[in-house]
Amino acid sequence: MALLETQGLTAFYGDFQALYGIDMTIDEGETIAMIGANGAGKSTFLASVTGLRTASPEMISFDGRSIGGAKPADILAAGIAMVPEGRRLFPSLSVEENLLVGNYGRKVRGAWDLEAIYRLFPILKERRHQASTSLSGGQQQMVALGRALMANPRLLLCDEISLGLAPAVIKDIYQALDAIRAEGAATLVVEQNINQALSVADRVYCLLEGRVTLEGRPADLSRERITAAYFGG
Ligand SMILES: Nc1ncnc2c1ncn2[C@@H]1O[C@H](COP(=O)(O)OP(=O)(O)O)[C@@H](O)[C@H]1O
Ligand SMILES: [Mg+2]
Repeated sequence: MALLETQGLTAFYGDFQALYGIDMTIDEGETIAMIGANGAGKSTFLASVTGLRTASPEMISFDGRSIGGAKPADILAAGIAMVPEGRRLFPSLSVEENLLVGNYGRKVRGAWDLEAIYRLFPILKERRHQASTSLSGGQQQMVALGRALMANPRLLLCDEISLGLAPAVIKDIYQALDAIRAEGAATLVVEQNINQALSVADRVYCLLEGRVTLEGRPADLSRERITAAYFGG
């Protein structure tokens, strides 16, 4: 049984249909990449899974139970945490306060607490009393990742965590994801950066205009097929 499964997942903004029946599975401990151009529907997919957009009960299940249409707080409590697009830190809060926010929705014992996150990202410990807005983009991304980890999620969703960051910083962030996976969480990384996605994923889904156009293991997918699935044509 998959940890997360979506079946025929649709999503609408008024009359505009953003998702046309997405079928996807993520197994326990798996790393999945979802790639797709700007506007493909990646963030909408994550919003549906986390309850920020409505879905029907039969469309999404987590650990064998329906979460389609459940409230965001209940989905977080069940073990799905997200690093949202653009990080969405609380600007008036310090680094440490932003991290602690992540602990409210789901209080379970697990590998991740403040000390573990500071071991993962030592710079955040040094800066823990500073305003989150005073950090660099990469450091802010570390805070956003740490905040999601504070819930000790069973499934971590990451929305374009490499966007706008320098290559060396992206490397640091993705190395941290290795450590996160080693503690057992399944991860779904949403990326426009195809190479980054292929280098970390067990399996890849490509989205184009609200549909899955390709799915498979990176080693089994040719560059041509990926490009066609990503850009259409
Ligand atoms: N709040 C919204 N209102 C109307 N349309 C939206 C809204 N958010 C996203 N869309 C549209 O839904 C489609 C998918 O967007 P999105 O899920 O953000 O794509 P991605 O994350 O892959 O860039 C796009 O066509 C986008 O314009
Ligand atoms: Mg997006």
